[in-house]
Amino acid sequence: MSNTLNENASITSSSILSLGIESTAHTFGVGIVNDGGKVLSNIRYVYRSRTGIHPREASRFMSRHAVEALSEALSQASLSLKDLSIISFSRGPGLGPCLRTGATFARFLSSYLKKPLVGVNHCVAHIEIGRMLTGARDPVILYLSGGSTQVISYLEGVYRIFGETEDIAIGNFIDTFARSAGLSFPGGPIVEELARKGRNLIDLPYVVKGMNVSFSGLLTYLESLIGKYPIEDLCYSLQETAFSMLVEVCERAMAYLKKDELLLVGGVGVNTRLREMCRKMCEERGASFYVPPAEFCVDNGAMIAWNGILHYTKGDILPVSQSHILTKWRVEDVSVKWWEG
Ligand code: ATP
Ligand code: FE2
Repeated sequence: MSNTLNENASITSSSILSLGIESTAHTFGVGIVNDGGKVLSNIRYVYRSRTGIHPREASRFMSRHAVEALSEALSQASLSLKDLSIISFSRGPGLGPCLRTGATFARFLSSYLKKPLVGVNHCVAHIEIGRMLTGARDPVILYLSGGSTQVISYLEGVYRIFGETEDIAIGNFIDTFARSAGLSFPGGPIVEELARKGRNLIDLPYVVKGMNVSFSGLLTYLESLIGKYPIEDLCYSLQETAFSMLVEVCERAMAYLKKDELLLVGGVGVNTRLREMCRKMCEERGASFYVPPAEFCVDNGAMIAWNGILHYTKGDILPVSQSHILTKWRVEDVSVKWWEG
C-alpha cells in the first residue's frame, strides 16, 4: 500500500472521478484519479508466493482483499461510492482467473451504482500513466515487466510494437534465475541488491536481433554458473548484460523513428541501474529520459483509473453484457482516440 499523490496535477478540474481496478496478475489494485490527472488514492495488495504465480490462488487472494482495497481507496481519497463517476477495470491481457475477479467486482459496482463501465488495456494503462505523470509527449516506450518486454511507440492511431523479446520477458527471466539460485520471488529487487556488491563482469551471451532481444540462452547459461561464481557477480553480470541489450534496442528504435524521448514503464522500470543506463544513453543522444515514480511503474489501480478517463472522454463505454475479459488483448488492438502528441 502507498499514498504518494501526484502533486503537480490540477485539483480544480475534477468533474470526472474514475475508480480503477487492476487484477491482471499478482496485484489487486484500486486507485481513484480525476480528469485533471490528480491521483487521489492508489491502494495495492500484492499476492506473494515463493514459487511464482498460481492463477487460482492469486484470484482467491484478490477476492479476499477486494472490499478492503476499495474502502481504503475511498477513505484515502475522502470520498464515498456515490461520488464516483465511472468504474474502470483492466480487461486484459493477463491471467484468466485474476482478470475475472477484477471484472466481476467492476461489473457489480457499475450495475449497483449505475455508473458507466470502462474496459482498459493493461499495457496502454502503463504507458498513459507514465506519459501523464512525466510529461513525455511522443516517446519511444520501453515496457518491461514480469510478462512483457516490448519497445513501443505511437504511430497512426495506435501504439505499435517495434521490438520485443523472442522468448521470455525480462522480469520472468530475472525471477526464474533468482528461483534457480534459491532466492525468493519476485527476484528483481533481490537481484538488484546483490548486483550492487558484484565486482567482476562475467562474459555472458548477448542476443540482439534488430530491435528484438532474447533471454532464454542467457538464462540457461547463467543457471549453469550458479555455485561456480559468487552470486553477487552473477547478478551484476546479469543486469549489465540484459540491460545493455534493452538499452541498445531502444536506441535503435529512437534513431529509426526519429524520436527524442524515452519513457520507461512496467515493474522492472523500478530498477535503479536500468534507469541509470537509460538516462546515460539519452544524455549521449541529446534526448530526454522519463520514468514515473516506482509505485506507478508496478501494476496499480491508478493507471487503470486514468486510462479509463481517457477512454470515457472519447465515448468508450462498455455495456456490462459485453464486458468479457480479453486475456490476450494486444496493445496494437486499442484505438488511441485521445492522442495529442
Ligand atoms: P505485466 O502484467 O505488465 O507483465 P507484471 O504482472 O509483471 O506486469 P509488474 O508489477 O509490472 O507486474 O512487474 C513485476 C516484475 O518486476 C517482476 O518480474 C519483478 O521481479 C520485477 N521487478 C520489481 N522490482 C524490480 C527491480 N528493482 N529490479 C528488477 N526487476 C524488478
Ligand atoms: Fe503490468
